[in-house]
Amino acid sequence: MEQNKNKCVLVSGGAGYIGSHTSVELIEAGYDVVIVDNLSNSDMGAVEGVRKITGREVPFVQVDCCDYEAFRKVFEEYEFDSVIHFAASKAVGESVQKPLEYYRNNLTSFMNVIRLMREFGRHNIVFSSSCTVYGEADKLPVTEQTPRKPATSPYGNTKQMCEDILRDSLAAYDGLRGIALRYFNPIGAHPSALIGELPRGVPQNLVPYITQTAAGVRECLSVFGDDYPTPDGSCIRDYIDVVDLARAHVTAIARMVEGRSKADYEIFNIGTGRGVSVLELVHRFEQANGVKLNYRIVGRRAGDIVAIWADPSYANTELGWKAERSLDDTLRSAWAWEKHLRGMA
Ligand code: UFG
Repeated sequence: MEQNKNKCVLVSGGAGYIGSHTSVELIEAGYDVVIVDNLSNSDMGAVEGVRKITGREVPFVQVDCCDYEAFRKVFEEYEFDSVIHFAASKAVGESVQKPLEYYRNNLTSFMNVIRLMREFGRHNIVFSSSCTVYGEADKLPVTEQTPRKPATSPYGNTKQMCEDILRDSLAAYDGLRGIALRYFNPIGAHPSALIGELPRGVPQNLVPYITQTAAGVRECLSVFGDDYPTPDGSCIRDYIDVVDLARAHVTAIARMVEGRSKADYEIFNIGTGRGVSVLELVHRFEQANGVKLNYRIVGRRAGDIVAIWADPSYANTELGWKAERSLDDTLRSAWAWEKHLRGMA
């Protein structure tokens, strides 16, 4: 297929929440995108949404990145020079129940990506990492130099292991460059409300639980703990708008494509720098959207860390990326997406 190799990006997991938003931002920034996804935890609707928003017939291949032979065909067919690797399992609790599935899926697919990039002489990779690698940090906010703590779940361990696999591969293999983006808590949806987060079953994450409660799908939000050592007793996170997060990927790809990397392997925190408590978020959601939320305080959730937020200054100055959307706009977009899904809009 005829493409400008430099301007073409393979997005693995591109039918997922962050992958679909990133595909849109890449296309709007002038890149061609090829989406691959096994649809194990995602939906063709997201690909359709990307096509609708961008007005482009974005190529989609249903493939499992763990299936080396099938995945290889995608490298044979398309001339991308960059890969953004989202495809992974991501439920912390499930990973504790099914560790081998998490290690197999998350590590095998990532190693296949690197192996195929070498085999086909492709150069740039962005890896979806997570602030989970910092665990319960001794000092807040966390910078990229904050030491990683031992992972508290197989999921978190796969993020650390993939970072290490990337670091070692980039040191060993000439011509490969990579960036790990450590995401904080992505929330919200595209302003068109055509793509957004699509949890299967009962949502595990806070914002989808909030929007489903507001929509009447769930009766009551449980706030997990109000006795933490924080100002209002609930946990603190750095909630990053998914479109802002998507734009960080575009910036990372451009940095590598344009030869502006400072090293073969770079790491950036992608957060806002603002810590928000669970209770604050609940109240902000109510105010921003003019809805009342049913919620109650329950016991702590096992494995939750008390507080984490980013020092994003390295990403701001060095990557030239900054979170822009206000928390209220983000929470409005989350609600607009939920209403769209429920036919309430
Ligand atoms: N929470 C509730 N009620 C809910 C759901 C969540 O009170 O119904 C609270 C949690 O206890 C936590 C906060 O909301 O204090 C945020 O919880 P999420 O599950 O939305 O997010 P986490 O911070 O636990 O986890 C997220 C991603 C992980 C990632 C991690 C990194 O889901 O993939 O951030 O810290 F690894």
